[in-house]
Amino acid sequence: MIWYPFTLQYEPDSPVKIVRGEKEFLYDEGGNSYIDAISSWWANIHGHNHPKIIQAIRDQLDRLDHVLLAGFTHEPAETLAAQLMKITDGLFHKVLYSDNGSSAVEIMIKLAYQYFRNIGQSERTTFIKWNTSYHGDTIGAMSVGGDSVFNRVFSGLLFPTKEFPAPNCNFCPVGKLPDSCRTECLRTIEEYLEAHPNEVAGIVIEPLILGSGGMVFYQEEVLRSLERTAKKYGAFLLVDEVFTGFGRTGSFFAYQRAGIRPDLIAVAKGLSGGSLPIAATLVCEKIHSAFVNPDPEKGFYHGHTMTGNPLACRAALASIELLQEPGFLKRVQELEKKINVGLESLEREFPHRIRNRRVLGAVGVLELEVGSQAGYTYPGNKILKKKFLEKGVLLRPLGNVLYLAPPYSISDSSLEKVFNAIRQTLSETDLGK
Ligand SMILES: Cc1ncc(COP(=O)(O)O)c(C=O)c1O
Repeated sequence: MIWYPFTLQYEPDSPVKIVRGEKEFLYDEGGNSYIDAISSWWANIHGHNHPKIIQAIRDQLDRLDHVLLAGFTHEPAETLAAQLMKITDGLFHKVLYSDNGSSAVEIMIKLAYQYFRNIGQSERTTFIKWNTSYHGDTIGAMSVGGDSVFNRVFSGLLFPTKEFPAPNCNFCPVGKLPDSCRTECLRTIEEYLEAHPNEVAGIVIEPLILGSGGMVFYQEEVLRSLERTAKKYGAFLLVDEVFTGFGRTGSFFAYQRAGIRPDLIAVAKGLSGGSLPIAATLVCEKIHSAFVNPDPEKGFYHGHTMTGNPLACRAALASIELLQEPGFLKRVQELEKKINVGLESLEREFPHRIRNRRVLGAVGVLELEVGSQAGYTYPGNKILKKKFLEKGVLLRPLGNVLYLAPPYSISDSSLEKVFNAIRQTLSETDLGK
């Protein structure tokens, strides 16, 4: 009866029925356990059913389940907004809640667009995006995503944007090596802005890692250079931290690694540690000020029924508290080292089957060598997923891009099991050409 997401309806495999989760493990109805090596779509950063998050939700449930957030407020929403401001270096002035990453991105786009209308610069309507980016599945979020199998069929419904080649520091689109790089990959964007200095409302990006587009990595200097360009031409920098936020890259937020100052950021996934749906868009003062106006036409009309749900806010506060425990970032950095060691040894063992290895924070990637079949629709993908599951490991390669994004608390023995599952699978599987 359920139409499962991202599941081809032609001969779908039956889904695994999960009845319980604890730490990095999921348990099915037959008592089998699976190591969740991708944090259930990158959300369960502390593992499943973390006792502190569960307790926080229980406590909140005794007091208030839900209340609309217009004309009413509540302590969890207020405290969470204050926390979000604190952990983002005081760059932002307002927090707009929603309940998924796509909506948080839509809100960024709508705010940037309306800002220019509100201040009388209606010619600024264009959004710049990268060709391998992904920002979600709603129409607006798809519009600012790169052309892919996810959104191609809807191209007639998407609003027009300007698409540029994404940076990729492992396979540089302009043939540079890290040592010789002067962020030449951004030149086409700079040229476009120079030629159309008053048309661009914003540049929408995933910082440091383009996730669903194939776990593509790029260097911090690209962010700094892009920020300079955006500021020079008066375009806003819209930073989608839905995947990279809350420690995933080894700092609280990826933008902080580069020391840039985004105008808007979107967060979701790890915000509640994967326990309840909640997302947020953080807005700088400049943008907010354009909405402080008695004219109702200049108001911002976007809110979802469950916006700022108290249970989800409380869960998010508990998750952030866990991130603030002493030594937390150090633990992610240690995990980064362990992932690197494990993947490096796999690369040594299978030099002809691995095209590239890269690691940043708690994200480790092995790009498999599959010749001309490379890409999201790589036909061997289904069999790989099945083989990992048979070995008790939940891994969902993006096409031929095999990656780990485990809960930060994953144990050494579980990590070893993940590497062994990859090892065994690579040795027994014909990846194709
Ligand atoms: C970078 C990025 N932005 C936005 C989204 C969309 O988030 P959601 O699935 O919560 O709508 C995703 C989801 O994978 C993402 O990776």
